[in-house]
Amino acid sequence: MASITIRQLDEDLKRRLRLRAARNGRSMEDEARTILRMASADELAEQSRANKAVPGVAPIPQPAAPLLARSIARQARVLLIVGGGIAAYKSLELIRRLKERGVVVRCILTRAAMEFITVLSASALSGERVFVNLFDPTTEHDIGHIRLAREAELVVVAPATADLMAKMAAGTADDLASAVLLASDATVLVAPAMNPHMWAHPATRRNLASLERDGVLVVGPKVGEMAEEGEAGIGRMAEPLEIVSAALPFLHSAHAPQTLKGRRVIVTSGPTHEPIDPVRYIANRSSGKQGHAIAGAAAALGAEVLLVTGPVTLPDPVGLKTVKVETAQEMLAEINRGLPAEVAIFAAAVADWRVEEPNANKIKKQPGSSPTLTLIENPDILATIGHRDKDRPRLVIGFAAETEQVIEHAKAKLARKGCDWIVANDVSPGSGVMGGDCNAVHLVTAEGIESWPPQSKEAVARALVARVADALTGAQP
Ligand SMILES: Cc1cc2nc3c(=O)[nH]c(=O)nc-3n(C[C@H](O)[C@H](O)[C@H](O)COP(=O)(O)O)c2cc1C
Repeated sequence: MASITIRQLDEDLKRRLRLRAARNGRSMEDEARTILRMASADELAEQSRANKAVPGVAPIPQPAAPLLARSIARQARVLLIVGGGIAAYKSLELIRRLKERGVVVRCILTRAAMEFITVLSASALSGERVFVNLFDPTTEHDIGHIRLAREAELVVVAPATADLMAKMAAGTADDLASAVLLASDATVLVAPAMNPHMWAHPATRRNLASLERDGVLVVGPKVGEMAEEGEAGIGRMAEPLEIVSAALPFLHSAHAPQTLKGRRVIVTSGPTHEPIDPVRYIANRSSGKQGHAIAGAAAALGAEVLLVTGPVTLPDPVGLKTVKVETAQEMLAEINRGLPAEVAIFAAAVADWRVEEPNANKIKKQPGSSPTLTLIENPDILATIGHRDKDRPRLVIGFAAETEQVIEHAKAKLARKGCDWIVANDVSPGSGVMGGDCNAVHLVTAEGIESWPPQSKEAVARALVARVADALTGAQP
């Protein structure tokens, strides 16, 4: 069917389709299919926007758009540059993880990378042509390396070898990877991977500092065992899913204007730990996934973000400042230190109570008797900031985790805490929200209630920060 359609196209359209197909390394039929898929995904996204709830009116529940359709709606494009390190095998997994999320991945392998993985495996997994050579007569007839540099929304360097980082910092352009990095104006995310001594070397320290000054985002490296026997320390590449988490906010924002540029946003995330004694504490099941996603999404729209997080196992989001705390009191102190800010989004699950007098030493087990813990109230962070006279953020947003009467409790909380919006979610045991990847929230404002369909925590985060940007510019709600 596609070939009949193509034959019937007028000459100019056919020529443009041929050029586009060649540029993307696809047949004309495949290119036509890709265009149709993108158009249908855009239509789905448009429908879901049109179905947005009317404030104050309960919306008709909408089935979530199929994951693939939603994720390819904007056909995000990553250029993955694979450096010559042992961790190159993980970049194959990274290609798969990005593709699963509907991202188009093109790869450049350095000469050294080809010692570790093959062009064939990278092209089979990406479904795209893999580029290795700066002086390639088949791609350079129209200066293909500049095209590669321009077409990506995000350039990911994984693994970023010590050598690649040095080249980037120095602005060298003597092979395809470094020439493309120098020619690209896209956001660059590097995932360093190297021996701990290479990582600790003053030259690498200097190069890293230069790259950070140039606005390059960095994910990892982590502490762990090295491929070299007996070597351990900092230098392991971040795991593919961690790199994906760091990359996604920047991909989704690639087409979006930097609507929060210059705005200071404070986000809290995770649980708090309230000590009982030096080894025991009171905690809750919050994973921090929602708060971290919000911080990342705000940074991706250009905001200057301070993330104050309780103890979580998540990596720090890239492109923002993360401050780690344990207790509610510490969290409030860091927020106060971080003010003034235009927006404060309190997604952390802060413990309502703490032990009045934590034991200085570990409480010993006494046969037949249990200790009694006296609890006292923790500071109410949302109410404290919501009712501030001086330096109150323009927009104070709280989260309400409820297990019953979610909306009623959220409405009451909005009034009581002096905040502007409440994002309410049902965290009852069957909901899978606490610790899970999805969330179904109700946005409660003075104007009414919107019930958003179940979606990933990243999607909730993007939708929320988009609403924040609208509100700051006076668009809504
Ligand atoms: C077995 C082996 C493993 C290597 N692993 C790493 C590594 O993990 N990180 C790194 O920075 N360099 C590593 N190197 C050194 C790089 O391959 C070398 O610096 C190379 O020039 C990097 O080229 P590229 O940056 O163009 O990819 C390794 C070399 C060998 C032989």
